[in-house]
Amino acid sequence: MIQVVNANRVRKIIARYRKNKLTVGFVPTMGALHEGHLSLVRCSRRMSDLTVVSIFVNPTQFNDPNDLEKYPRNPERDVKKLSPLLSENDIIFSPDVSEIYPEPDTRVFDLDPLDKIMEGKFRPGHFNGVAQVVSRLFEIILPDRAFFGSKDFQQVAVIRKLMDILHMPVDIISCPVIREKDGLAMSSRNQLLSKEARKEAPLIYTTLKMAAEKAGDIPVEQLRKLVTLKINQSHYLKLEYFEIVRKDTLMPVRTWDEPAGIQACIAVWAGNVRLIDNIALTE
Ligand code: PAJ
Repeated sequence: MIQVVNANRVRKIIARYRKNKLTVGFVPTMGALHEGHLSLVRCSRRMSDLTVVSIFVNPTQFNDPNDLEKYPRNPERDVKKLSPLLSENDIIFSPDVSEIYPEPDTRVFDLDPLDKIMEGKFRPGHFNGVAQVVSRLFEIILPDRAFFGSKDFQQVAVIRKLMDILHMPVDIISCPVIREKDGLAMSSRNQLLSKEARKEAPLIYTTLKMAAEKAGDIPVEQLRKLVTLKINQSHYLKLEYFEIVRKDTLMPVRTWDEPAGIQACIAVWAGNVRLIDNIALTE
């Protein structure tokens, strides 16, 4: 595998492959890699001739400067984890900030209503920052396919909308959530959890599974209340939101009668670490 920090160099290398009609799969990440990220890399390797993994902690998507500062970084360990998975031609692209943003990015994308609900509501500006960095990375790499985790369910919807806005013909592939043995969704932020918060955090997935079991049996509003009660029972967890939404539009539903399928999305503070997760309630 090749490690590249320069955008023009990546462009040139990839252009050679494209000339030979090889397909390019892309996995964007912010590093501190875990099995969730690696599952996307494996998926790209299966589906593409060349895989590019980017490692870039994107400052424009952090609405909280404290979150950006404490975001875990470990580039050497990331390369060690990736190297057994990648072929000799695959690329790790780890640019610095000036490479992606030679000038401040002032673009504002019309992501409405996705930037006003759930993550969009509680992290103002976050999805605009995600759209900025993903559009820059896609312009450099021009992938045929890009792989995203359904752990960030709303992010996948934002990226699909971005492809519509920019008329970019990139196939967006959504991959399953990878979990720890106790059910906690893997996340780079898990390593920031205190011992006590880590112990309690699996309650998030236990509660989501309970919600999936009860879906259809009790009214939507009652289920929302039940989940709020269950999460807030823990001294170390505090619910930020729990939403029951249409899988396609992410708009809240009031009844179970929804042919598009229904998803539950949750955000919880575990001490001072914010965790998100989601589950399908109906197919
Ligand atoms: P990051 O949080 O590093 O995640 C990179 C990719 O890994 C995302 O598509 C995310 O959904 C996926 N991922 C994270 N945890 C996962 C898990 N437990 N199971 C499956 N997939 C998982 O998401 C970002 O970075 C950034 O917003 C990015 C898209 C790179 C733009 O900066």
